[in-house]
Amino acid sequence: LAQDKKWRIGFSQATTIEPWRAQFNKDIVAEAAKHPEVELIITDGEDKTEKQVADVENLIRQEVDALLVSPKESAGLTGVVQQAIDAKIPVFVLDRNVDTDKYNQFVGGDNKLIGRAAGEYAVELLGGKGKAQGNVVEIWGGMGTQPAHDRHDGFHEFTDKEPGIKNLLDQQSGDWKQDQAYNIMATALRNNEKIDLVYGHNDPMAYGAYLAAKDAGREKEIKFIGIDGLPGEGVTWVNNGELSATFLYATPGAEGLRQAIKFLNGEKVEKTVTLDTMKITKDNAAQIMKDNGL
Ligand code: FRU
Repeated sequence: LAQDKKWRIGFSQATTIEPWRAQFNKDIVAEAAKHPEVELIITDGEDKTEKQVADVENLIRQEVDALLVSPKESAGLTGVVQQAIDAKIPVFVLDRNVDTDKYNQFVGGDNKLIGRAAGEYAVELLGGKGKAQGNVVEIWGGMGTQPAHDRHDGFHEFTDKEPGIKNLLDQQSGDWKQDQAYNIMATALRNNEKIDLVYGHNDPMAYGAYLAAKDAGREKEIKFIGIDGLPGEGVTWVNNGELSATFLYATPGAEGLRQAIKFLNGEKVEKTVTLDTMKITKDNAAQIMKDNGL
């Protein structure tokens, strides 16, 4: 450990192939740069639970002062998170939760709330409360992740109250990936003459579905809603009129690291830190891009 480095903090990231996770890593690296007393070790689970489990075991062996982990899936990472806790390493769970609450802190967005906001907007797009009509395609994120379940549950709190809304698919997962969502949508388009709205659990999947509809010449009849709101992705697609809306799901990179440092410095931290969201439509997309230098 270099002389000036007081804290060694390990961060186990699930994958870096998804744009939102690439941004997440950028955010945590930028925050680390503001804390010369911190040495940050980032591992990449390469979108595989076994790899991420090995990464966390490795960080435990290195006796890091704190462990930050953003799980690929909840159940598969619970055991090693428990191991870290047993080894008396403070654990900060970021974005996707695990199946224990024995960690020090969870930092992430409120996916139930975001799902509700998406559901409320879907009802509005389909004709309004009590009058909404339409066939909906929902493309799930990873089935083994809490965000996917919360985004589903929140959405349906609104859409299930509408007798005119029909769900065309049953638990079809695109595992957060644009290409998988494209394939799900291509099949849905072949099987259904009328599709009115697509709800993707993230922007890459909403956009993949949009591209499938475009290739079938049907994108104009369908509204697309996503989640994440990265300026160069979802916000740009909204601004282009390709998606009707996205909902900000801020990365917990900067806040997660700040909280861990606060804890290491002996301050009390909350059990849960919830990051804010916002609805992004044509009304504010251009401004958000401008604010982000796009
Ligand atoms: C990236 C991602 C995001 C999504 C989040 C949910 O891996 O799929 O697009 O919002 O994870 O955990």
